[in-house]
Amino acid sequence: MKTKILKIYEKNIDKEKIKFAADVLRKGGLVVFPTETVYGLGANSFDSRAVKKIFKVKNRPSDNPLIVHIANKRDIYKLSKEVSKEAVKLMDKCWPGPLTIILKKSEIVPYETCGGRETIAIRMPSNKIALELIKSAKIPIAAPSANLSGKPSPTSKEHVIEDLYGKVEVIIDGGETEIGLESTIVDFTVAPPVLLRPGKISLENLRNVLGKIRIHPYVRGFVKRECIKNFETDVIAPGMKYKHYSPNAYLILVEGKKENIRKKIKEIVKKYKSKNKKVGLIITEDYYGKELTKFVCADFNLIAKNLFKIFREFDKKGTDIIIVEGVKEKNIGLAIMNRLRKAASEIIKV
Ligand code: TXA
Ligand code: MG
Repeated sequence: MKTKILKIYEKNIDKEKIKFAADVLRKGGLVVFPTETVYGLGANSFDSRAVKKIFKVKNRPSDNPLIVHIANKRDIYKLSKEVSKEAVKLMDKCWPGPLTIILKKSEIVPYETCGGRETIAIRMPSNKIALELIKSAKIPIAAPSANLSGKPSPTSKEHVIEDLYGKVEVIIDGGETEIGLESTIVDFTVAPPVLLRPGKISLENLRNVLGKIRIHPYVRGFVKRECIKNFETDVIAPGMKYKHYSPNAYLILVEGKKENIRKKIKEIVKKYKSKNKKVGLIITEDYYGKELTKFVCADFNLIAKNLFKIFREFDKKGTDIIIVEGVKEKNIGLAIMNRLRKAASEIIKV
């Protein structure tokens, strides 16, 4: 398939290009578009044939449901007949923005979009290109992250091209995404609501608005991957049971007390270097010389923004081992640790 790449600037949106992409969506095609979190692989959420293409192109298991993107808050009442007051409260505070809410789905939403479930994930993004596209298409857009299943989510056109070029009709290039990690997901089909995936909208933010909120154990990585196949029915976000965000390199996450982490990292680096392995580091302070490939950053928002990009860059350099320093689970730190634990081949606690 020939893929058309459309460069669109968020500050000066070319309506003709948006209309072209919206027409592709209306006709059942696939369009990759930027959001403030990561790029999304979009299709008409009401068209089960179009939605099935998303699963095929990404190689995504069909029971892993998609997020439906809207451009007008009132659209939730079409997609769900059971919208709780709590959900409205949070939605009013955070939309448009990096928040996804889970509600009971209405009958107009095909089961394919929801991975066969009775519930639906809905989000109103704040990226202006995404909003214009949804408005122009006049339909809610189902869109998972625009990566191949298991790969890190794409935060730039280059990443999307790596994974999906030739497999979709249109890629909208809207530059680098602002946040870099996927939206926060809160399930409102249960009371009190449950945080399923942490993101830029933090647990602290959620507590401020909702008061009571439960945290799914998987958010902090307390559920071991080996156990997952045994608790199929307990898993509320189906995406939780699949390996995610992984670079090709073997990723070692070292978490615990800062001083201990550093000592341990030095030890591991030495071990792998003596085996002639190519080592890459993601650390908050530079305690290494020039010879190592590394990303040094102490700003949590910048770590979030760059994490998936660094994974891909390290892979391109042929890095064998990526060693990552764990961060504090406050604010967006919880989302960073959630993604790191899911990406890790090995977690060392010190
Ligand atoms: O920031 C984002 O959320 C990005 C952009 C493109 O909007 N999208 C995204 O989609 O990250 P995806 O498909 O990569 O992740 C969606 C997650 C999956 O873990 C899925 O299992 C969960 O949302 N999900 C979707 N529908 C659900 C439902 N009805 N109940 C529970 N979890 C659901
Ligand atoms: Mg994804």
